[in-house]
Amino acid sequence: MKEVRLGLLGLGTVGGGTVNILQTTQTEIQRRLGGKVSVKVEQIAVRDLNRARPVDTTGIDLTTDPLAVVNNPNVDIVVELMGGTTLAKTCLEQAIQNKKHIVTANKALIAEHGNELFKTAEAQGVMIAYESAVAGGIPIIKALREGLAANQIEWLAGIINGTGNYILTEMKKPGADFSQVLKKAQELGYAEADPTFDVEGIDAAHKLTIMASIAFGIELQFDKVYTEGISKVTGDDIQFAQKLGYQIKHLGIAARADNGFSLRVHPTLVKDSVLIANVNGVMNAVMVAGNHVGQTLYYGPGAGAGPTASAVVADIIDVIRALRQPQEDRVPGLGFALDQLTSAPV
Ligand code: NDP
Ligand code: HSE
Repeated sequence: MKEVRLGLLGLGTVGGGTVNILQTTQTEIQRRLGGKVSVKVEQIAVRDLNRARPVDTTGIDLTTDPLAVVNNPNVDIVVELMGGTTLAKTCLEQAIQNKKHIVTANKALIAEHGNELFKTAEAQGVMIAYESAVAGGIPIIKALREGLAANQIEWLAGIINGTGNYILTEMKKPGADFSQVLKKAQELGYAEADPTFDVEGIDAAHKLTIMASIAFGIELQFDKVYTEGISKVTGDDIQFAQKLGYQIKHLGIAARADNGFSLRVHPTLVKDSVLIANVNGVMNAVMVAGNHVGQTLYYGPGAGAGPTASAVVADIIDVIRALRQPQEDRVPGLGFALDQLTSAPV
């Protein structure tokens, strides 16, 4: 049986969840790979070697040097679950130079630097998979890239930050305190390392940038997204909206506009009768309208160890399957020939 060896950058919420799935679901993963491939975690980079880990790391080489992982000749696929856009970018650039395929949950890195990373990856024949970067456990990247491939996407809109939706849901309870609710979201592993990204809409803007790029075949244009978070929404606002038959939801909306595309994230009044008004807690939901299919809806947990790691492991399986395809048939990144992407105004 062929062994594929993984090098992980990060063993926190998502990294821990990923190793847990790889350790507890081996038979199912091997079955999905036709019984011909086994997956081994070879090495993991962490910041603190002495921190207690939620998974058994016996037989895994732990290091504090992420570059040692991407330069390790025994690593076939680099799985980046560390976060940030500086060191993570350096590591992925090096991984591409070393012709190692990449799985990442890092939406900030993809949204802000994906255009360059995908180009170098394509030149080197390297795949970058990032299903876990958007909407946690919901396979929305696959839906946009593959399931809806026959359609011109007209618009998409949804709840794409689990922490924000968790906070807005908890704030419906009388007397709930914003900072206490945010603290709870952090304890549950939902929030970003810097939670400002969640509450000020930056994380949702990263995700919207990625979805819009795939949906419309445009370059990633994070700096053009109108971005407003939930930090100014009060308990009184939420309760007042409810009395009028509405919920306040933080939405990401991408649509075709007269002269290009419109991308925005902001709190929105959603009528109680609309499905996404009833999406609560850490759950995410994305509506996508295609010219042939009409409106579709994707719903599921948007953050946390299990759901996110579920998407990471699916990407690992996808990359291993794709390695059996001729190189020209592999999807390098966004799923469009990169020279076909337009830089239409946003
Ligand atoms: P955590 O903070 O829980 O984990 C980060 C991990 O990276 C830790 O193990 C940390 O080591 C390690 N790390 C950080 N910096 C370094 C460094 N300089 N050198 C070596 N190791 C380092 O983050 P999450 O797991 O929550 O998030 C990881 C990524 O996944 C981020 O890009 C995030 O945006 C994304 N994501 C997160 C989701 C979630 O629900 N949490 C959902 C979807 C995506 P140590 O443990 O020693 O501190
Ligand atoms: N902080 C992010 C969220 C993690 O709450 O949605 C999932 O991408």
